[in-house]
Amino acid sequence: MNQPTSAIISEELIDEIIGKYQNKPGFLLSVLEEIQEKNPLKYLPAETLQTVAAKLNLPYSRVYGVVTFYSFFNLRPQGKHSIVVCRGTACHTKGSKQLLNEIGHSFGMNHQDENSEASFTTADNQFTVRTVACFGQCAQSPVVEVDGKIYSYVNSQKLLKILENVKKNGVQKNFSVNTSR
Ligand code: FES
Repeated sequence: MNQPTSAIISEELIDEIIGKYQNKPGFLLSVLEEIQEKNPLKYLPAETLQTVAAKLNLPYSRVYGVVTFYSFFNLRPQGKHSIVVCRGTACHTKGSKQLLNEIGHSFGMNHQDENSEASFTTADNQFTVRTVACFGQCAQSPVVEVDGKIYSYVNSQKLLKILENVKKNGVQKNFSVNTSR
């Protein structure tokens, strides 16, 4: 599989993005968001954060603090497809930890530590699995999101179908599973 050869955004592109948002509300957020979007691996490497901090004359800690505060920023390379498991209370009580373990197992990851929350990208950069605190859809728990599509009342059988489909067909266009209990 082809992998992007570089995940570092050029200084020229950073300058261009900074120029685009200069003096606009939410300037730093917008700059970081677009830089991440332009990165083929959808993340913000430390080198990029250092470049942004230097160009904006801001302390590195300020830029790093913004990136770590908002969950949509990534400090590590992301896979082509994303699988997000809700680990909020409602989903937890309906078995989301088990789903997370099954997803890990399906990708050959063995989570021995029951207290750890999985966040990993497969070696071929095709899938990133991570958790979220709540999707705001607690009444339909447990909830799993795949490539931006929400699946409700997920159980092991549904999960298996979802994973089989995303591995086989990639993006979830017309695929659906029964979303009732
Ligand atoms: S706890 Fe999972 S959607 Fe709220």
